[in-house]
Amino acid sequence: MKLFIIFSILLIITQLKSEEDLTIKQINSFGFKGEIHKVETADNYLLTLHRIKPRKFTNSSQVVLLVHGICCTSSEFLSSKRTSLAIFLFENGFDVFLGNVRGNKYSKSHKNLNHENKEFWNFSLHELGIFDLAAFIDFILKFTKNKKLFYIGHSQGATIPLILLSSKPEYNEKIYQLHLSAPAPFMSHFPNVLIKKYGKQAVKTFTKNNLINLTPIIEVLHQNLYKHCSLNQPLYFITCMIVEFLILGDNFTKLEADHETFDKLLTFLSPNVSSTQVLHFFQFIESGKFRQFDYGRKKNLEKYGMIEPPEYDLKKVVTPTYIYCAERDRVVARKDIEHLREILPNVITYKLLKNYNHIDFDIGINARKDVHKDILKAMKMNSKRQS
Ligand SMILES: *[C@@H]1O[C@H](CO)[C@@H](O)[C@H](O)[C@H]1NC(C)=O
Ligand SMILES: *[C@@H]1O[C@H](CO)[C@@H](O)[C@H](O)[C@H]1NC(C)=O
Ligand SMILES: *[C@@H]1O[C@H](CO)[C@@H](O)[C@H](O)[C@H]1NC(C)=O
Ligand SMILES: *[C@@H]1O[C@H](CO)[C@@H](O)[C@H](O)[C@H]1NC(C)=O
Repeated sequence: MKLFIIFSILLIITQLKSEEDLTIKQINSFGFKGEIHKVETADNYLLTLHRIKPRKFTNSSQVVLLVHGICCTSSEFLSSKRTSLAIFLFENGFDVFLGNVRGNKYSKSHKNLNHENKEFWNFSLHELGIFDLAAFIDFILKFTKNKKLFYIGHSQGATIPLILLSSKPEYNEKIYQLHLSAPAPFMSHFPNVLIKKYGKQAVKTFTKNNLINLTPIIEVLHQNLYKHCSLNQPLYFITCMIVEFLILGDNFTKLEADHETFDKLLTFLSPNVSSTQVLHFFQFIESGKFRQFDYGRKKNLEKYGMIEPPEYDLKKVVTPTYIYCAERDRVVARKDIEHLREILPNVITYKLLKNYNHIDFDIGINARKDVHKDILKAMKMNSKRQS
């Protein structure tokens, strides 16, 4: 059954839509202009940083960097006028930058490596933290002549700053506040039993040249899948279940109430992801520890000089931190986020969002009222103190 499903998914003939910069189109659709900046990392990846073009030049405006979750892009923060965090912050006077980490559809260039190359995809979450985020932050501060910025991240985007700040604590000096929704450094209570059991096997099945290409699944989703959820179609049904449980949470009624949700979700998916990056999350689930990628005893000894990978020292993350936790999240368990809250040395607030699931921070109907306004308030209070 399981294999049948996987092969059926692979058999769906896919056609990638011609590439266009959806993020810029979305920014335009709100009546604003977008900018594209190319940022080079210390290990020579060329990343795309989007920015909402400020209406008039000012060097006093406060800067914010938003970073998306796994398999997503900067579009994540531009879903609709009602819920777009990027637009909300822009309209409230912030200079808004949106990152795209290596491998996503806007950031698949490298100075020397082709993105079809196995070596291109040889990275874990560690590199996203210490290279990609560091490059975004340094670029933005230099470009805007600011000393510090605000950071907002979702899921993977809320996890990798913890890698950066614990590995290179000097970056604490460059960030006013960290706003983390569904951060995932600890995952030992990962709630999805099926994924926990079969996930790694599925990763192996899908991996080619260190790359997992989810295009076939995304194409299935593009066919208005939610309408077929209850039909007698095993492939659709299973894909739908996976997505609902993993991404949308466990409240099916809610999905039915808002079909638009699915369409929004599709706009910010990006199909290619490094298998090491995904396995790194599986290691968090298995070890219960927030640490560097486990390459196995021999390679660990070579790379780290020790058998077990080194743990990230979260005590070094001293930036004021705001944590948002979704009660019905099927990806990151509340217990694990509460564990993080206990360990981080400078948590200013922790907010539990009742009935929220993993991506409601972006597309939940009430996200503005429940989350975005809190973020804005904290940022404005900080800005007031500065001036
Ligand atoms: C930027 O700010 C500095 C100091 O506040 C001021 O002297 C300078 O004129 C400003 N530059 C621009 C281009 O606004
Ligand atoms: C995903 O990877 C495949 C294989 O390298 C490539 O052909 C395709 O263009 C990539 N798609 C995107 C959107 O990056
Ligand atoms: C991937 O990275 C690991 C660890 O840095 C290294 O040992 C390995 O040789 C690399 N593999 C490829 C294919 O580049
Ligand atoms: C699911 O969401 C709907 C709509 O938001 C809500 O009315 C319902 O109470 C929720 N169901 C559960 C079991 O929480």
